[in-house]
Amino acid sequence: MANRESLNLNAEKIKELVEVFYQNLLQEQYFKDTFKARGVDLNLLKSRQQSFILALIMDDTEVNANHQQQVQTRHSFNTSPENAHIWIRVMEESMEEISLDETIRTKLLTKMRMLMKTIVRD
Ligand code: HEM
Repeated sequence: MANRESLNLNAEKIKELVEVFYQNLLQEQYFKDTFKARGVDLNLLKSRQQSFILALIMDDTEVNANHQQQVQTRHSFNTSPENAHIWIRVMEESMEEISLDETIRTKLLTKMRMLMKTIVRD
């Protein structure tokens, strides 16, 4: 239920998830290089990713065109299935690392896998 208390709890937990996720993702050479080459502002990215993930949790529609649009716009480059696999694996491991609630975990991973399809070149 998206009441104020659950929102606060989620926000804290998702902040932790995003911190751990990018720390882990940057251990992967491709992501380290890509972020560097694009001059990504990591703090800005983390704060946007945090808002985005919270929006995914709060949203009960299966496919949300706005979310798809946002992911497509910010990933004008295409990526390979291998890199997509690494991103999702690191996300799963980070969720495990912070013991994220199972229901939220499943909901997020389902949506993230769907969103990933919009930026992967087969
Ligand atoms: C291999 C897959 C992916 C790569 C290489 C990648 C890479 C990046 C990069 C480089 C940025 C920074 C963009 C910029 O400011 O220039 C970014 C931003 C972002 N990515 Fe990804 N990403 C991947 C997958 C995903 C997926 C599956 C999602 C969906 C949950 C996602 C959500 C976001 C969000 C929300 C932002 C911030 C958007 C904004 O600034 O408004 N990414 N990503």
